[in-house]
Amino acid sequence: MVDLMGLDRAASIDDLRLRAKARIPRFAFDLVDGGAENERNLRRNVEAFGEVELTPRYMVDVSEIDTQATLFGQSYDAPFGMAPIGMLNAFWPGADLTLARLCKRRNIPYVASSAASTPLEALAEAADGNGWFQLYVSSDAEVTEGLIARAEAAGYTTLMVTADVPAAGKRDRDIRNQLAVPFRFTPEVLLQCMANPRWALTSLRHGTPNVANYADLLQSATSYADVQKTLITPAFTWDGLERLRARWKGKLLVKGILHPEDAVKCADLGCDGIVVSNHGGRQVAFGPPTIEALPAIVEDVAGRMTIILDSGIRRGADVLRAKARGADFVLAGRAFAYGVGAGGEAGAARAFEILHLELVRALGQLGVPSFKDVGSSALRLAL
Ligand code: FNR
Repeated sequence: MVDLMGLDRAASIDDLRLRAKARIPRFAFDLVDGGAENERNLRRNVEAFGEVELTPRYMVDVSEIDTQATLFGQSYDAPFGMAPIGMLNAFWPGADLTLARLCKRRNIPYVASSAASTPLEALAEAADGNGWFQLYVSSDAEVTEGLIARAEAAGYTTLMVTADVPAAGKRDRDIRNQLAVPFRFTPEVLLQCMANPRWALTSLRHGTPNVANYADLLQSATSYADVQKTLITPAFTWDGLERLRARWKGKLLVKGILHPEDAVKCADLGCDGIVVSNHGGRQVAFGPPTIEALPAIVEDVAGRMTIILDSGIRRGADVLRAKARGADFVLAGRAFAYGVGAGGEAGAARAFEILHLELVRALGQLGVPSFKDVGSSALRLAL
């Protein structure tokens, strides 16, 4: 394909971020780019990865590099997948389906968010066997059950319940931008749209994005509080997880685990895995970066459950850092979002390519030809 946008010159995920920033109105860019309060956790996620050193080993034949990883009996071509992101079509129109298709094409997992701007059925079809479903537990048990039943009927076999939302995160950028749900076209928003005509025209063609899985329920919502109550609950407890385990026959993962004792409880309740995650620094500013929370969790539950990590993945080497510290697999959220924002389908493909090329190169430099063999010895030498 001819690279009309010059995406080949985007060398890193950070480059894609800058390109996305230049094409998207500020309120929509901040919606994805921002974090909780003063964004300390968001920054620390990325910084902490940078502090984990791996020592290369040489005189190893690395002419064949294997990045495959197997999860729950399914083989994937890379050890990273797309994290669930709600309302992503507000960032770039059509982003959900673009990314679901990309994940199918590159054979990596795509996690469809409960709060996606595309119905879960359409995302299951686009991801075609590579889709997992992320569940937000609602304040209304019928709403939760409705989502589970739809996910089951759509053929999802892996359910990822998000635990780290007892309350919505306080995101200062969104408050400053006066971001409103349901969405309002304020004069400032209109000005920002006019300054980004390509985004505005594409958005007009696609229509105003909404939280599609709840579209009917939210028609009568008049306040943000109404929307929050439909989407999340402050009262999801271990009993609730136990009931969910009994209800869902497929693989069950719990996303948002940071404390080793919570990880042990998930294992005791028969969950198949956890995602060590701080929601990409969007929930609290005071929490630990996930790469630092990981070792204590691995110590307590390795071998009992699959351990996935997200929050802060920006480089192929970050995937290796997480594996060297004991994670089986990682998810990336913003890395893919920046790609699609930078250049639609071609930009999304470029985000995958950057992470994958960096990963292949880093495995070769590390002297470990197969991802599955990356272990803690790569780390220990650095200490
Ligand atoms: C998210 N995340 C998220 N998580 C979830 O379980 N359900 C959701 O609907 C969303 N929505 C969402 C929206 C936006 C804009 C972002 C950036 C993130 C969290 C997401 O799944 C993942 O944990 C983080 O994105 C990982 O951090 P990085 O890779 O973005 O640094």
